[in-house]
Amino acid sequence: MAHTDLEQEAAALRSEIERHNYLYYVLDQPVVDDSEYDRLFRRLVDLEKEHPEIATADSPTQRVGVAPVTAFTQHGHLVPMLSLDNAFGEDELRAFDDRAKKGLGGDAVQYQAELKFDGLSISLTYEDSLLTVATTRGDGGTGEVVTPNARTVRGVPLKLREHVPGIIEVRGEVVMYKENFAQLNLSRAERGEQVYANPRNAGAGSLRQLDSRITAERKLNFFAYGFGAGDRLAETQSGLLDKCRALGFAVNEERKVLCGLPEMMAYLDKWREKRPSLPFGIDGIVFKVNNLDQQETLGATSRGPRWAIAYKFAAEQAFTKLNRIFAQVGRTGAVTPVADLEAVIVGGATVTRATLHNYEDLHRKDVREGDTVVIQRAGDVIPEVVGPVLDKRPVDAVIPEPPTVCPECNQPLSQVAGQVALLCTNKQCPAQIAAKFRHFVSRGAMDIEGLGEKIIDRFLELGYLTDLPSIYTLKDKEAELMNLDRMGELSIKKLLSGIEGSKTRPLHKFIFGLGIRQVGDRGAYELASHFRTLEKLRHADYDQLKAVADVGPKTASEIWEWFEDANNRAMLDQMLDLGVKPEEGAAPESTIFEGKTFVFTGTLTQMTRPEAEALVLKLGGKAAGSVSKQTTYVVAGPAAGSKLDKAIQLDIPVLSEQDFLNMVDSEEIAGPGTLGL
Ligand code: IVH
Repeated sequence: MAHTDLEQEAAALRSEIERHNYLYYVLDQPVVDDSEYDRLFRRLVDLEKEHPEIATADSPTQRVGVAPVTAFTQHGHLVPMLSLDNAFGEDELRAFDDRAKKGLGGDAVQYQAELKFDGLSISLTYEDSLLTVATTRGDGGTGEVVTPNARTVRGVPLKLREHVPGIIEVRGEVVMYKENFAQLNLSRAERGEQVYANPRNAGAGSLRQLDSRITAERKLNFFAYGFGAGDRLAETQSGLLDKCRALGFAVNEERKVLCGLPEMMAYLDKWREKRPSLPFGIDGIVFKVNNLDQQETLGATSRGPRWAIAYKFAAEQAFTKLNRIFAQVGRTGAVTPVADLEAVIVGGATVTRATLHNYEDLHRKDVREGDTVVIQRAGDVIPEVVGPVLDKRPVDAVIPEPPTVCPECNQPLSQVAGQVALLCTNKQCPAQIAAKFRHFVSRGAMDIEGLGEKIIDRFLELGYLTDLPSIYTLKDKEAELMNLDRMGELSIKKLLSGIEGSKTRPLHKFIFGLGIRQVGDRGAYELASHFRTLEKLRHADYDQLKAVADVGPKTASEIWEWFEDANNRAMLDQMLDLGVKPEEGAAPESTIFEGKTFVFTGTLTQMTRPEAEALVLKLGGKAAGSVSKQTTYVVAGPAAGSKLDKAIQLDIPVLSEQDFLNMVDSEEIAGPGTLGL
């Protein structure tokens, strides 16, 4: 095909794909099914791959993320991103309406009511219709540049659908849909990774990934709610959002222009009730003076505009009956109480169970079987028992006793001194064994596709699985497996190739999969980076283990004991004999932090703490959990506590997060930074 024909085909595909994105994400009216969309997308990917010279920056193929950055750069907003004043209750809303009326001469004021998305605000800069910069809100004046990440977000046009000359800033909220959040947490839990507390945190964490390919996988959505810099594109707030929609942005479809307190209250009532059925989280309603001239007349304070107010909803709670409290056994043998509830809808999902964390917490809250309890979904998702409704306590409500024997294997439970968790120490406990398998094969560990929870249970029952090495003998039973009911040839082939592929997983994943007490994914990563080979790790003595970043005395002895145990040693040898050969731990990419130990404290805003620590390791340094004379730098964010005090006491240089990132960027070790300590 001639070059111009190829270019024409690519251009046609791009506009066709963006049209489908618009129909799907903005208008909510898809006209093709997923397979047709995928076909168009793949054709465009192939074309651009074969002919890189015809690729364009606004191509939808650019929405899948690009190679990671080491840090976010800062970007000043042309117009500050203000916050909103809050109103709680009718009186405060009336006061707002009265102030607006007074400021505008006394007549009734028209407002646009909008949903208040519970997400993360961003600002998108378009230059001559092309998306050039995307930033987080930051401190309102300056934000972090997250352009590659924002490109992956649904509802963000890479190119405006109508030409707008010059620069405009479009503002709005990035949210994670409840469904995507639930999926993400499920797979994180399966992999043994920490789950996000709510969709807002998950959305913020996902947008702030240094690797935008991860952001792309997280499936975020954007809703535009206003403008920053740029020519005024309409006369009213409702006109602005109509314009946003025409330009290609997803907007608040539930918005309504209304007037007077009764209408405002009716709108609030309607959305308070409908809130659970929305696919994304909202934490209130925003009322904005609709006329833009009037907005200008009212102006703003340093905090927020006088023409808008956020009416906040209360946390979503519900009452239900707690039928029973039962004990659940985890992988490490920890036994936790779980509440079995009469089904109730909270925050849009039916809740039948809620964890009670541990027996101490349960007694502190004085929760009893038969109680009516208050259930709350923290940030929409994880249900918790807030406490009992004492007025409704039946006379025969039962105070739950902690179990003395394991609910699964009947062996006596023990309690480690100083810890709240009850433990089943029976190594043969079936619940623990099944949980160990689930952990070993999970995505964060050996990532064995096809060996799900149900298959594990079934294979345990049939005796095909006995201990972890038995996973690697399943291939000798291929013929038998083929004879099992409900097991197709294809799924068995897939399972066996998944098992085969897992033999060479990176060392840190293998270590994590072993399920050594106190060794999470980060600890496993540190052990792998430190010792590099399984051989070195398994022969390390207590002191050598303790020398690893973030391995304290307790963890060191857990690891040492684990490798001393004859059963564990035999199990490892067996796995090695069966061909398991974990890939050696990666060498650091650079030596700029060699010999330097970092401690992070307080809130980091540009990356998570594990990400920061992984960065230190990658650059040849060490990351520790506590401050000592061996610490070279303490990186302190807001809300830093005792670690910061200790650093000052020991005269250890304290860096801000930005100093640290500058250091990473400049590849040289700077002195103490902006905290001026
Ligand atoms: S307007 C100057 N509209 O709420 C006015 N904000 O609590 C700027 N938010 O920072 C905000 N939905 O992140 C506006 N429909 C909406 C909103 C909204 C959510 C967020 C936004 C803002 C925060 C203030």
